[in-house]
Formats: sequence, C-alpha cells, structure tokens
Amino acid sequence: MYLGLDLGTSGLRAVLMTEAGQVMASAQQGYGVSHARPGWSEQDPKDWIAACESCLSQLKASDGDALSRLRGIGLSGQMHGAVLLDASGDVLRPAMLWNDTRSHAEAARLDAATDVRALSGNIVFPGFTAPKLAWLQKHEAAIWARVAKVLLPKDYLRLWLSGDYVSDMSDAAGTSWLDTGARRWSERLLEASGMRRDQMPDLVEGSHASGQLRATLATDWAVTEPVIIAGGGGDNAVAACGVGAMHEGQGFVSLGTSGVLLAARDRYAPMPETAVHTFCHAVPDTWYQMGVMLAATDSLNWLARNLGQDAAALTTALGERIGAPGHIRFLPYLSGERTPHNDSAVRGAFLNLDIADGPQDLTRAVMEGVCFALRDSLEALRATGADLQSLLATGGGTRSRYWLELLATILDLPLDLPVAGDFGAALGAARLAQCATGSDPEQILIQPETAATISPRSGLSEAYEQAYQSYRATYPMIKALP
Ligand code: XUL
Repeated sequence: MYLGLDLGTSGLRAVLMTEAGQVMASAQQGYGVSHARPGWSEQDPKDWIAACESCLSQLKASDGDALSRLRGIGLSGQMHGAVLLDASGDVLRPAMLWNDTRSHAEAARLDAATDVRALSGNIVFPGFTAPKLAWLQKHEAAIWARVAKVLLPKDYLRLWLSGDYVSDMSDAAGTSWLDTGARRWSERLLEASGMRRDQMPDLVEGSHASGQLRATLATDWAVTEPVIIAGGGGDNAVAACGVGAMHEGQGFVSLGTSGVLLAARDRYAPMPETAVHTFCHAVPDTWYQMGVMLAATDSLNWLARNLGQDAAALTTALGERIGAPGHIRFLPYLSGERTPHNDSAVRGAFLNLDIADGPQDLTRAVMEGVCFALRDSLEALRATGADLQSLLATGGGTRSRYWLELLATILDLPLDLPVAGDFGAALGAARLAQCATGSDPEQILIQPETAATISPRSGLSEAYEQAYQSYRATYPMIKALP
C-alpha cells in the first residue's frame, strides 16, 4: 500500500493506493484560512497536522488492515508558503500562504535584482516564498532573528512524519531560491533576499526517498515494515504525475478555481518574460512549464453569485453544443492575472454589452473569456518551445460539455477526458511513493484511460480566432484605466 497526502489550501486529502495503482480508500479533512489584513493569507501549521491525524484515523477505521501494509508515503502540497521554525523546530508564526500578497513590494525589488530571473527561471511573483522572508526581515525583525529553518507547507508535514528537514526540487523551484536549471539552492538567490544556506532544508528529487516514517507513528498506525517517504512535490507537478504528464508533448489543462495549462518538458527552457512558470518536475532531469490564470471557475461562480443563480444551472441553460462566439467580451481578471500579464492590479471587465443581453449572454461571455485566457497561456507556452498536440482536461469545469467544446475550439486542440476516477495530486503523491520504494517511474506515472476526446468544433475555428484577437486587444485598454 502507498499513501498519497495532498496538503491543499482548503484541506488535506489522503488516498491509499495498491501496488497495482488502484485507489482502495480515501479521506479528507478541511481547515480554514485566515485573512487578518487585506492581502494576508495565513494558516496554522498545527491544523495541517491535525488534519493528517484525522485522515489517518478515517483510513484506519475504514480499512486498518490495508493501512498496516503501508510501504511508502508521498507528499503533495500548496506551493510557495513559508513555515518559519526556530532552532528547536517550533513554529514561530502562522504560515504565509501562496495567495498572500503582502510582500508585493519586496517581490518587485527581488524580481529586478541582477541574476534573479536568470537563475530561478521565473518572475518573482508576489506570492512566492523569497519576498515573504524579505518582508519578515523588515516588519517582524524579532521573529526573523529566530528563524533557523524555512519550510514549504508539505515539508512541515514531512518533518512531523519523519523528523527530517527536506524539500524536493519541484516545490523548491517555487521559492525563488533554487537554481532551477542546476537543481540546487543558489547562494546568489539566497543572498539576494538576505537568507543563509543553513536556513534551507536538504533537497531530494520528488521520486526519490527522503527518509522513513517515525517509529511512534509506525506503531500508532500499526504498520508492519519500514515506510519510505518520497520527496513528493508541489501540487501541479504531482497532479501531472497523477495523469502521466511527464514528457515533452504531454500536458493538461485544468478548469478549477484557477486555471492551469501545463506542459511537461524534457529540457530546461525558461522564459520569464512570458509570465510562464518554469519549475523542476518531480522526477530527475525533467521540468514542467505552466501558465496560470487566477479566476477560471471562480469567474463563473462570481457571475452565478451575482445573478443569484446556480453555476451549473447557468451552464446547462446553454446546451451542449457551441455556436458562433458571442458579441460580449469578458476579461476574467477578477483577482488580477499571472500569465501572460503578471499584473496583480488589473481587474475584470464586461465589454460591448447590449440592452437585450441577459444571463445567458453573460454566462457565455464568461466561459469564453476564461478559455481565451487559457489560450493566452497556450501561446506563452508555445513561445518557450513546448509542442502540445492534445491535452488532458481536468477540474470541476470539465463537467460542462459546452465549456469543454468551447475550450477545445479556442485552443484548437483535442481534449482528452480521463475515465471516471481519482487522478488528482493525492494519487500522484501515492504514485511517487511507489517510485521511491524502487518502482520505475516510466511504469508508474502513466496516463489514465481516455473516456472521450472532445474535438474543436469544425467550421468555427476562424470565428473564434477573430474573437480571440479582439480579446487580446482589450487588455492594454483596461490596463490604461486610471
Ligand atoms: C502554483 C500555485 C498554486 C498553489 C496552490 O504556482 O500558486 O498552484 O500551489 O494550489
């Protein structure tokens, strides 16, 4: 048995997977996020441990026998967060999360510093880890003076599981302290944000072992043999492991709260100016690149809330087959945008509204706008040399056939829908655990069976291409608004 743990922003998910890759049992436990001030987003690491204990109790209750046969644990987690520990390993303050933007000024300063983009391969986005520590040095100097180690969220869970201070390459690449091409901490990047090498954990590859389960936990869980803990990875890298997006030409598009278009890469080809993220993948010598848009299903949910309707009812009213593009343009920048604009200040817009427009027209415009934003990410990925001929489609938005057909047509790529099942980051983490115990990643990190392929709607490509060009032309105008 292999256990995959995915430490998300709203909760922890655990799956227990067999040697043959079958999910035997799963468990989930939520926790809250605190926003004490505008731009702040924090969690208490103790809540993650409590959630993990709860998931383990659930798994033990549902199939204690399966749990006792555990051989490996893999970890996946929300990226970019900062867990600050003193010399005894005690937490010094609440963890600052990936969507905490208090350090935007420090991010801009670091982003402009010599060699930072060149070494890290990325823009220093306001949510990344390095600027958070630069903020701490200035605003909470007494805490800063006691920081002995900085861990990413899932690596704090690892510390509790094994007692080891270790991170993996894919998650470490989101800190702005890693030399992403060379896969090691960069003295220059650490120095740029006033950090020391001894404050960093050790590094392993995601599919390699980082240590073993502590004896006390092994006894509590009644496991019978030593349990290996895999390096694991950042949530998108591990989700890619869950759907077998590992090599050049393989990728996925996720219509979740935020939208992600990810391409696996066999070589390191950073291009920060496109606002594409370039991170190490969870297996050695591979990387992945992704465009991230911040409000995907979030845009539709925002509309539904404001119309006083259910999001699923809004999409169902459009039917399953798309027609020509609508006349309204929607810019989905409700929370600012990462790819391709790297603009946390820009906000969304409806353009070209007509007196006759109603909820259906607005819904269609929102769904189109989200697809156009993902097309922007596809163009940015192509600029880096990624060659995608098809994509796997995941996320809650894929329940709408209409949205899928719209996305296939606007990206002009076929979209593969996996068979029903659990192919998320928790499964990816369990798969990495299996790799860390000696299995070959090529045999384990494979693609799920395809249930259906959604093709671009023929005859409409030209019309959507024109609509996309008009969408692209609007950002500079919105940006220019005072
Ligand atoms: C990736 C990112 C998110 C977080 C939270 O850059 O910010 O995917 O990892 O899920």
